[in-house]
Amino acid sequence: MAEYLVELYVAQGDHAAARHQVALAERAGADLSREGRAVRCLRSIFVPEDETCFLLYEADSAHLVAEAVRRAGLRLEHVSAATTSVAGVPETPVGTTKGTRMTSTSSTTGTGTSSPGPDLTELRDKQQKVWSSGDYNKIAALTVPVSEHLVDHVGVGPADRVLDVATGTGHVALAAARRGAEAVGIDYVPALLEIARRRAAAEDVAVDLTEADAEHLPHDDASFDVVLSAIGVMFAADPDAAGRELVRVTRPGGRIGLASWTPEGFVGGMLRTVGAHAAPPPGARPATRWGTEEVVAGLLGEGVGDLRSQTATVTQRFTDAGAFADLFLTYYGPTFAAASRLDDQGRAALRADLVALAESHDRREGSGHLVCDWEYRLVTATRR
Ligand SMILES: C[S@@+](CC[C@H](N)C(=O)[O-])C[C@H]1O[C@@H](n2cnc3c(N)ncnc32)[C@H](O)[C@@H]1O
Repeated sequence: MAEYLVELYVAQGDHAAARHQVALAERAGADLSREGRAVRCLRSIFVPEDETCFLLYEADSAHLVAEAVRRAGLRLEHVSAATTSVAGVPETPVGTTKGTRMTSTSSTTGTGTSSPGPDLTELRDKQQKVWSSGDYNKIAALTVPVSEHLVDHVGVGPADRVLDVATGTGHVALAAARRGAEAVGIDYVPALLEIARRRAAAEDVAVDLTEADAEHLPHDDASFDVVLSAIGVMFAADPDAAGRELVRVTRPGGRIGLASWTPEGFVGGMLRTVGAHAAPPPGARPATRWGTEEVVAGLLGEGVGDLRSQTATVTQRFTDAGAFADLFLTYYGPTFAAASRLDDQGRAALRADLVALAESHDRREGSGHLVCDWEYRLVTATRR
C-alpha cells in the first residue's frame, strides 16, 4: 500500500474543529476498512497558523483516500502521494513540498506547541519582492469589479478624503477619484504605482500615489474619512500592525472598507495549492484569514464599531483551465515566485494542480470557455 497526504482547511486554526475533523476521518477510514477497502488514517498533523490539518493515509489508491475523506463529510483540499521514514518524520513527499511545512511549523493535533516569533521585517521584504515579480498589471484587470463594488458599497462621495491601502495599479484610488473624492493610494511596489500614475493621467483625475508600507503608514492619525483596501492589505506580512494602522489613520466616525479573498473560495484554494508546492516563508500567515469576519474584527479591534460583512463573487472567464494556470504562473507574483523555486517536474505538478482547481470550479454551462466565480468578503466598520 502507498501513503497519501490529505490537506484539510481548518478555519482560524481552531483546535477543537481540527480534532473533530480528524475523528470523522478516522471513523470513515475504519468503516471503509471494515467493508474490505484498503484505506487507513495513520496520523494527523495540525498547523494552526496555516489553518491546515494534514492526514497521513495508507491506502491502495489516492481515489480511495479521497472517498474516505468525502465519506467523513470533509471538504478535501488536496491529496498527494507521500513517503515517510520509519521514525515517522516526513521525508520529501513525492510531487509536493508539504513535508517542509510539516517539520518546520507543525504541532500535533491537540498539543498546540508554538514556534518562536518570525522576523516580520525579513518576511515583509521577501513578500515585497514577490509582488514585484511577474507582472501584476497583467492580472489586475480581473479584479476591477471588486474595487468598484467596494467603493460603491462604502458609499464614497465627493466630500471624502480616501486612502487606498496597497493600491497596486490604483483600482480603488481611481474609482474614488472618479466619484470626486480626494484620493490617496499607497503601495510598496514602485512599478505598480507608476502604472497607477499613468492611469490617473490618462483619465485626467487627481490621485496622490506614494510608495509606503501598509504596516507603517506615513499619514497622521485620523487623517482620512474613508480607508479602503481591495485584496491588498490582506497580504501584509504583519496583519496586526496593518490592522492597527487602518484604524489609526481613520477619523472618528470615518469608515473602513476591506475586500479580501475568502479561504473557502477559488483564490483561497489557489493560494493553498501554491503553498503546497513551494512552502511559504516561515512565519507567513494565510492572507485569506482576512476573508473571515471574526479575524478582521480581531485585527481592527476595539477602535471600530458597527462591523458588518458579506460575501460576493467576481466572475472570471478563461479559454480553458490551462490558460488560467499559464496566466497566473507567468504574471501573478505569488504563483510566479513559487514556480521559479521549483524544478521542471515541480512546475509541471503545480500547473497540473492549478488546472485541476480551475476545472473543479468551472460552471461553463455550455459557454465553450471556463467560467468560475471567485469569492471575496466585504467588511465595513466605523471608527469610534
Ligand atoms: C493582489 S494586489 C491588489 C492590488 C490592488 N489593491 C487591486 O485591487 O488591484 C496586492 C497588492 O498589495 C500590495 N502590498 C502587499 N503588502 C503590502 C504592504 N505591506 N504595504 C504596501 N503594499 C502592500 C502589493 O504590492 C500589491 O500591489
